[in-house]
Amino acid sequence: MPVSGGPRPYTMRDMTRTRALIREVFKQEHEPTLFQSLHVSWPEGMLVYQEGLELVGFLLPIRLEANQARILLMGIDLANRGKGYGSSMMEMFICSCKAYNIEKLFLEVRVNNHVGIAFYTRYGFSTLSLINGYYKDGSDAYLMGRIVPK
Ligand SMILES: CC(C)(COP(=O)(O)OP(=O)(O)OC[C@H]1O[C@@H](n2cnc3c(N)ncnc32)[C@H](O)[C@@H]1OP(=O)(O)O)[C@@H](O)C(=O)NCCC(=O)NCCS
Repeated sequence: MPVSGGPRPYTMRDMTRTRALIREVFKQEHEPTLFQSLHVSWPEGMLVYQEGLELVGFLLPIRLEANQARILLMGIDLANRGKGYGSSMMEMFICSCKAYNIEKLFLEVRVNNHVGIAFYTRYGFSTLSLINGYYKDGSDAYLMGRIVPK
């Protein structure tokens, strides 16, 4: 059987593996309740990247107002970066935004995350402001945003 790969919608069955992946990428622990509330907020916006039987990426948004959303967590596991997987997930996500009439997107990124900033800039995000002490460890974040064309 051929091994398939690509971005696909998240389902609640992916929670354990997605939590493990987030732990690996960000060294952060997130409670199951977070995934449950994101799933209630906007299930179709949540994506994972599957490579064969493995999950190697995630893009988890939350809907803010009817026409706005925020990317809460996005990452690709270390071994699979630079292969265009993040791009495929972002492109699928932008299509989903258009389908759900999301007009504005926001996210926070660490000011020293040059790869993350380059990635988001490539996908049309620009820096809106600096948020001092945004992270638990006291690090600063940039608030980035973009318009989603209809
Ligand atoms: C940011 C991240 C999601 C990008 O995913 P990816 O699959 O590696 O990215 P892609 O291969 O699709 O690259 C797309 C574009 O991003 C930028 N980019 C990706 N890796 C880069 C690097 N190492 N240096 C500079 N720019 C880079 C480039 O513009 C690239 O386009 P190009 O290949 O035409 O130059 C991934 O690096 C990651 O998971 N990082 C750790 C977690 C993180 O920082 N998340 C985002 C901030 S919260």
